[in-house]
Amino acid sequence: MSPGPARIVVLPGDGTGPEVVREGIKVLRALAEGDGLAWRVEEHPGGAQYYQKTGRELDPETVVAAREADAILLGAVGWPGASLPNGDIAGAALVLGMRQTLDLYANVRPCRLYPGVVHRIGKSYQTVWPSELVDMVIVRENTEGLYTPARGRLRRSDETEVAIDTRVITRKGAERVIRYAFELAQHRTRGAPEDGVKRVTCVDKSNVLEGCRFFRETFDRVGTEYPSIERDYAYVDAFTQWLVRNPEHYNVVVSTNMMGDIITDLASVLQGGMGFAAGGNIGDHHAMFEPVHGSAPKYAGKNQVNPFATFFAVEMLLRWLADRRADPKLARQADRLERAIGTTIAGGTARTYDQGGHVTTSEAGDRVAEAVRAVPA
Ligand code: IPM
Ligand code: MN
Repeated sequence: MSPGPARIVVLPGDGTGPEVVREGIKVLRALAEGDGLAWRVEEHPGGAQYYQKTGRELDPETVVAAREADAILLGAVGWPGASLPNGDIAGAALVLGMRQTLDLYANVRPCRLYPGVVHRIGKSYQTVWPSELVDMVIVRENTEGLYTPARGRLRRSDETEVAIDTRVITRKGAERVIRYAFELAQHRTRGAPEDGVKRVTCVDKSNVLEGCRFFRETFDRVGTEYPSIERDYAYVDAFTQWLVRNPEHYNVVVSTNMMGDIITDLASVLQGGMGFAAGGNIGDHHAMFEPVHGSAPKYAGKNQVNPFATFFAVEMLLRWLADRRADPKLARQADRLERAIGTTIAGGTARTYDQGGHVTTSEAGDRVAEAVRAVPA
């Protein structure tokens, strides 16, 4: 028996965040028409623009709501010129803050190329990587590493002489994200496109950094508990070229926080750009899903950006909830959404500017909502 409708807290945030989130909710509503409401949506303000208006990045009630929610959907945060007195970007409370507060230790970023997606090369749009060669998930540590808030400056009079960021790798932090990656590889039906092998690649800089050596040792220790999964290793610098040249080798990739941040943006190019890149910030008790692209202030209010990353984020959210609540209705909704996204992309009828098309954000949402209605419930 499922315990009533799931409560989804939505944080639209800044810039284009509210525009893409609106389309995500449109698509959720279309899903619900077919098989009844399995969730409840609740929006909360917050972000850099909210900070400029109110002096708060978010309201205390929002933190409580996020903690009590079954899942969170985040748009994007950040606005030019909006920063906190300590220099951090205003709005970070919604991203970095939630990751810490809710202990969302695994940042899970699938990188899959759907047939019909084109790559922008200079000013032309082409098929570069065959879609069957790109199908991996990058798991980024999300609560420590170089993002550990132990940083500061040494000043002489008013002049900064030294700035320090402390990179912390803990046994607990490394172990749980690595275990997440192995569990994911085990549960995913598909192995690497190259050979079908279930493989986890540890991306680090263990030839230089002590924390990375510890991360890799932990990877080996945890990995021995998963004898059916191949262990694979790459230094982060070499990885950036292999990723582009041989994406088919990768199945699940695990890395530390800052390295994971960088390689996932690079990987997004393989899937058609940031317009298609979604991520889940996942912990043992909470999860927050988001398009990775950010607030894109230049496009704010123009109804132009690609909402597909948000559709993928919604799909991830539904799947995570379905698992957690053991609710087959939610799992069916995720399957229907995946099919609707796939057929819409393949049909080429929802190409926004980044794909060389002229479809607007809201039209792309209409196309996917129509496709959802066409998939039998
Ligand atoms: C991301 C973003 C964030 C990060 C920013 C907005 C703080 O780049 O989610 O990848 O650095 O983690
Ligand atoms: Mn990033």
